[in-house]
Amino acid sequence: MTVHQKIKPFYFDITDDEIQYFLSESEKILKSAMLVLGEHTKAFEAAFAEYVGTKYAIAVNSGSSGLEIILRLKKVEGTTVLVPTNTNFATVAAVIRAGGQVQYLDMDEQTFAPSLQMVKEAVEQNKSIQGRISGVLWVHIGGVISPEFPAVVEYCHQQGLFVLEDTAHAHGSKINGISAGNLGDGAAFSFFPTKVMTTCEGGMITLNSEEEDYIARSLRNQGKRGMDFGGLHTDFGNSVRITEINALLGRIHLAKLPEMLKKRQHAYELITAPLKENGLSFVSTEKMDEASNYKLIVHLPEGKSAKEVKTTLAEEGIFLGGTVYEIPCHKQPVFQGICEGQSFPRAERWCPNHICPPLTSGTTEADAQRVGEALVRHLKIA
Ligand SMILES: Cc1ncc(COP(=O)(O)O)c(C=O)c1O
Repeated sequence: MTVHQKIKPFYFDITDDEIQYFLSESEKILKSAMLVLGEHTKAFEAAFAEYVGTKYAIAVNSGSSGLEIILRLKKVEGTTVLVPTNTNFATVAAVIRAGGQVQYLDMDEQTFAPSLQMVKEAVEQNKSIQGRISGVLWVHIGGVISPEFPAVVEYCHQQGLFVLEDTAHAHGSKINGISAGNLGDGAAFSFFPTKVMTTCEGGMITLNSEEEDYIARSLRNQGKRGMDFGGLHTDFGNSVRITEINALLGRIHLAKLPEMLKKRQHAYELITAPLKENGLSFVSTEKMDEASNYKLIVHLPEGKSAKEVKTTLAEEGIFLGGTVYEIPCHKQPVFQGICEGQSFPRAERWCPNHICPPLTSGTTEADAQRVGEALVRHLKIA
C-alpha cells in the first residue's frame, strides 16, 4: 500500500524566532498591565493602513464586528443593503445586526461575486419594492477582485449608494494599483486563523474619512468618543477592541505578509499550470495586480460530485479546505424569510459544485505539483 504524505489545507506560518519574539514582547505587555488599546494596537493600525493605502485603520476583535461597525457608520438602519448570497454568514448577519434589510445578489461563476449587471438590476427592481437601498456590501470571494468591481463602485456612487468591502479574504489583493480595502467607502478584514494572516481572532477596519475613523473608534469601545477609558457613552457601541497580545501577533504576521503572499502565488501558479494545460476551469486572478490567493476556486466539471472528489483526494493524502461557499446564504436556515420566493440560479449551480484545493504559504513546490496532477487525474473527463 502506498503511504502518502498528507497535504493539509491550513498552515500557521510562524518561525521559531518569531515565536521567541512573540513570547518576549508578550511578557512586556503583561508586565505593563496595558492589555488593550496600547502601543501594539496603535502600531498595528498604522502599519496596516500604510499597507492598504488608506488614511485610517481601526483594529477590532473580529471581521464580524468590523463589518457591523462600517455598516453602522453608513447608518443602514431601516434601509436595504445589497449583499451577495454567496458569502459567509458574517456578511449577512452584520447587515441585520446593524438594523438593515438584506437584498441578495446572485454570482458570476468567473469571479464567484455578483456582476455589474446584477447590481444594476437589483437597484432598479428594489427602487419600488423594499424601500430605500443605501448601498452594497461587496465580498471579494477567495481574495479575487472582480474586474468589474471598479465599475460597480462608479455606478453605485452615481446612484448615491455606498460600496463597502468585506475584505475577509483579500489581504494584499490589488487591482489597477489599488488594494482591496481601499477600493470603496470602507472595508473590514478578518484575521481568523484560516485567513492569509492571523491574529488568532481579530479584524481591521480601513477607512479614509477622519469623521468615520473617530466614530468607528467610539463604536469599538462602548461608544466612548475621543477617549479610551472615560465614562461618557455617546454612541451605541460594543466592546469589540483587539487585545495587545493579538495586535502583537498581527504585527508579526503583517511584516511577513508580502513573503507569505509570494509563496501562495507560486503555489497557485504550480497548481493551476496543469489545470490550464488540461482545459480544467478555475476562477482566474490574472486581471488583478496581486492576489491574496486565499482560495483557489476550481469549477467541477458536469457529472463530478464535490463529495466524491474530496473523498478520493483524501485517500491520496490531499485534504481540501472549506469551499466559498457550499451553501449560499439564501439557503441557510438562520436566514429563512429573507428574499423569500426569489431564486439565485448561479449560486445554486456553483456553490455545491466547486472545490478549493489546499493552498497555503506552507505549500511546497512538490506539494503544489502533486495537487495539480491529482486534480487533473480526478477532474478530467476522458
Ligand atoms: C467573507 C467573510 N466575511 C466575514 C467573516 C467574519 O470574520 P470573523 O470570523 O473574523 O468574524 C468571514 C470569516 O470567516 C468571512 O469569510
